[in-house]
Amino acid sequence: MADGTQFAFTPEVERATHTLWNKVKKHVTPMEWRLQAPLIAEINRLKREKNAVILAHNYMTPEIFHGVGDYVGDSLGLAKEAARSDAQVIVQAGVHFMAETSKILSPEKKVLIPDPLAGCSLASSITGADVRLIKQRYPGLPVVTYVNTTADVKAETDICCTSANAVQVVEQAAREWGVDRVILIPDEFLARNVARQTNIGIIAWKGRCEVHERFTADDIREMREAYPEAQVLAHPECPAEVLEAADFAGSTAAMSDFVLSRKPKQVVLITECSMADNVACDAPETEFVRPCNLCPYKKKITLQNIY
Ligand code: 13P
Repeated sequence: MADGTQFAFTPEVERATHTLWNKVKKHVTPMEWRLQAPLIAEINRLKREKNAVILAHNYMTPEIFHGVGDYVGDSLGLAKEAARSDAQVIVQAGVHFMAETSKILSPEKKVLIPDPLAGCSLASSITGADVRLIKQRYPGLPVVTYVNTTADVKAETDICCTSANAVQVVEQAAREWGVDRVILIPDEFLARNVARQTNIGIIAWKGRCEVHERFTADDIREMREAYPEAQVLAHPECPAEVLEAADFAGSTAAMSDFVLSRKPKQVVLITECSMADNVACDAPETEFVRPCNLCPYKKKITLQNIY
């Protein structure tokens, strides 16, 4: 069998993964760990043998994020690492657009995705042909494209952004083109949230992330009633009413930094479920309230298919 189930939880494996276990043990059961640890040890051995690195997004489950990720972070951070790394092989523990982004930035490297069906509702909301139509409709305006898109869409784009730098990129594009309006696609909510923070006019598309669009301002109100002390942090792919009700809005890395640097007593992360598990492993003094919206695409990546 080549799915990794042939590896046993030996005393050597236990020793090799002991430090890691101490980090994740509040969020992974001992039964799960006995299955995961042999694979983690074997994947880490294979990485050295094959000069490979694993880029793990903040939405990966803790055994991947903490167990085998060499570089972890938000989509901006992972793209930068992909460009910087001198490994021959990059394994993208994330979704398809992230692997494409790594390949665009490192064309000479082999970039692998453990499951090519790990997609994204937002990325599939728009095609290159759609972007050509938008450009015909608004000639002369720069097209800023969110990183959660296919390479086909990026090819029609003037400049890319992530949730971490969207406002700066929009303002820079407007300056460079000498215009007061910018096309920002495909996330409708990210576009509205950027529009709240700049005087540049934003022309948006109607794409949405199926994880973030489900949160509502009522969810936040209910959480505040139940947990009046909690800090509420939300991802900019959430509806504007959610961000207005939150204490802080930022990319997955910005949310993680907020918790690790400010150490709130209690926190709610309005984003994908695994994010809280990963940050909680590094923030034992913070209590996490966990509203959970699962991304079915990101959850397609497992230790087995990484192996
Ligand atoms: P970040 O850039 O904040 O990591 O977000 C990427 C993503 O896929 C959000 O759904």
